[in-house]
Amino acid sequence: MNEIIIIGTGGSYKMICETHQEFLKHKKIISIEYQNLNSLKNYNPQIPVILAIGANRNVEYRKKSLHFLNKIGFSLQSVISPKSIISNKTKIGKGCIIMPGAIINTNSILNNNVFINTGVIVEHDCVIGESSFLATGCTLSGNVKIGNNSFIGAGSVIIGNVIIGDNVTIGAGSVVIKDLKDNTIAYGNPAHKNIKLTQ
Ligand SMILES: CC(C)(COP(=O)(O)OP(=O)(O)OC[C@H]1O[C@@H](n2cnc3c(N)ncnc32)[C@H](O)[C@@H]1OP(=O)(O)O)[C@@H](O)C(=O)NCCC(=O)NCCS
Repeated sequence: MNEIIIIGTGGSYKMICETHQEFLKHKKIISIEYQNLNSLKNYNPQIPVILAIGANRNVEYRKKSLHFLNKIGFSLQSVISPKSIISNKTKIGKGCIIMPGAIINTNSILNNNVFINTGVIVEHDCVIGESSFLATGCTLSGNVKIGNNSFIGAGSVIIGNVIIGDNVTIGAGSVVIKDLKDNTIAYGNPAHKNIKLTQ
């Protein structure tokens, strides 16, 4: 039986085990808590890894885990819910998680380690940077670009052609109608009116 390592034991782990049970049913799961990441060194780096760590306001844990995994030679496995709808012109990097009800339209690009949570809509020609996290039910209209390590809060809407930088946090339920620079937190409607720097 093929082994697979799953990192994280919280809500995202439970969701992934349930929603991707078809994919996981013939695998021997090795479950590791984020706090015990170092114990990965005891395993063969040929074993694929799923990063089942969510995010609640930033992607710090997902980003750190990815860097550690890369350093010690493990590769991330993508898991895509059969209950999502994904254009066959979408490019999906390594270690992406796509949850049920997500819709990803034509010509979009998900870089490595992107997490697309339940019911997210990504319209045509969007680009989502490494380790960015799209929380439940958010909507990216067409041609939206999101940098690396950014967090888009639950139920947010980003209108077309907007560019979001790296390390940005967008609060739950926000409406984003203008570009947001790197290292900012923005929330509300319109989000650019409530903005602060993180560093
Ligand atoms: C944006 C966010 C990160 C800000 O957190 P924070 O820096 O700790 O902010 P605070 O809770 O101290 O709130 C600061 C102010 O912003 C307001 N605020 C915070 N989040 C807001 C939001 N999403 N929309 C509108 N206003 C918001 C607060 O009401 C408060 O206003 P006040 O100063 O007038 O009282 C957080 O509120 C948020 O929305 N996180 C996203 C959660 C989410 O989507 N989780 C999904 C998991 S799948």
